[in-house]
Amino acid sequence: METKIISIVGEKGGIGKTTLNILLASELRYARGKKVVLLDMDDPQYSIYKKRNRELQLLETEERGQKDVYPIEPVTVATIQKTVLEYYGRVDYIIMDLPGSLNLEMVKGLLYVEHVFIPFGHDELEIDSTSNFYLTLKNNFLDNDQRVLKSINLFFNKYKLVRKNRFSELRQQFRDATIPMMESVVKDKIIYKEQYRNTLYPIPEGKEEGEKELKSFFEEVIKLVN
Ligand SMILES: Nc1ncnc2c1ncn2[C@@H]1O[C@H](COP(=O)(O)OP(=O)(O)O)[C@@H](O)[C@H]1O
Ligand SMILES: [Mg+2]
Repeated sequence: METKIISIVGEKGGIGKTTLNILLASELRYARGKKVVLLDMDDPQYSIYKKRNRELQLLETEERGQKDVYPIEPVTVATIQKTVLEYYGRVDYIIMDLPGSLNLEMVKGLLYVEHVFIPFGHDELEIDSTSNFYLTLKNNFLDNDQRVLKSINLFFNKYKLVRKNRFSELRQQFRDATIPMMESVVKDKIIYKEQYRNTLYPIPEGKEEGEKELKSFFEEVIKLVN
């Protein structure tokens, strides 16, 4: 089985990496029937791993036993290699949730990632730090002889329609600087965290408008890695 290793990652906290890694894993597994493992490398918080346990606790014992869920593995710099090797070739996707700073955990994790997706917003400081992060990855991981990294893709998260013009100016600036920007954006929607984000179920169908947009974002992600 051909395995793709993906991470929604960036050098900034609170921009939606963890939320979107969970949603991506759940979309691939529960809506598309893919084999997925989610590696939680956000040592020592392990917020995804803990979230999964809380979600399971809320189920009835019987349901818990029957539920077929994708594995979530907490990993450290010491166990990452072993864990990646354990799943490589056995799943369609390995998704990695990394910490929000360029520390040892992140660098170790990035050594295995093939496709990187970097979320950012419209704040000017974020734009500078995002372009710097892009260049760091490009120079150190992409333009490298033994490279594992195959693509770096940027996208807007928490996109606000009222800032549409600002976003389109930014898109143009990035295009001019030949930084690859995705077509799709992820809008700022409370439902994404309150209803959609969970590790046990797919994104709800036919409930809200936001679901189609989120799904078309994931469609683009899947196209870019295949
Ligand atoms: N598209 C979005 N719309 C609304 N809230 C979002 C969106 N993406 C992320 N959030 C919220 O932003 C906060 C930070 O997200 P999180 O995924 O923890 O970021 P990170 O992993 O980058 O630190 C969380 O409260 C999350 O629910
Ligand atoms: Mg996070």
